[in-house]
Amino acid sequence: MPKKPFSIAIDGPAGAGKSTMAKALAKSLNAMYLDTGAMYRAFGLYMLRKNAVNNTAEVARCVEDVEVNVRFIDGAQRLFLGEEDVTQAIREPEVSMAASTVSAVPEVRERMVALQRKIAEGQNVVMDGRDIGTKVLPNATLKIYLTASAEERARRRCRELEEKGMPEPYEQVLKDMIRRDYQDTHRAASPLQPAEDSVHVDSSKLSIDETVELMKKLALEAIERA
Ligand code: DC
Repeated sequence: MPKKPFSIAIDGPAGAGKSTMAKALAKSLNAMYLDTGAMYRAFGLYMLRKNAVNNTAEVARCVEDVEVNVRFIDGAQRLFLGEEDVTQAIREPEVSMAASTVSAVPEVRERMVALQRKIAEGQNVVMDGRDIGTKVLPNATLKIYLTASAEERARRRCRELEEKGMPEPYEQVLKDMIRRDYQDTHRAASPLQPAEDSVHVDSSKLSIDETVELMKKLALEAIERA
């Protein structure tokens, strides 16, 4: 009998390497990769452009109308606001904070979670975010809580921004990261927290390859058990 599709949930704080690891893991397992943070970022950008990120009522109203479209082009996830490709624009540092702010609004979470479940339905999937194991995929085949120290995460984010030609000073990146961690873990609606049945992986002292290898081993064992 064919096995039912598997789902791997990867949660953790900003800069823990979730998207890098999740993408590599999905590729090695031949599964779809969904970066859910990109969806909150696209909506954060939409509200930034309206100059209304902190207007909760307006945020809740706009999420009903906004068209956040996820498309897979040549196997890569791209984000669209309507027909506008915003894949690049959502990586700007100011969008990170806007995404974190709008993601605290319950109506936004409700809409995004529904979209995420719909996109992943019936597929083998690796999804990363903050509430995947606790909320989006509570019955995931495997839940991983991926962490690294704030300093290591800030160093990695600095390198990433530099490679993209958008360098930022380390102190600033660390400060923003700590502020965003606080906001993501202290909101009332689905705060970032490890699912009770998650496996914790600390990537501070592991290379990317070592982390992906470890996650793949955990995934294959969980898929075998399911
Ligand atoms: O993973 P990221 O840094 O691209 O996410 C941007 C913001 O979106 C993050 O600060 C919190 C929010 N987010 C969320 O609330 N739930 C998710 N599943 C993914 C992201």
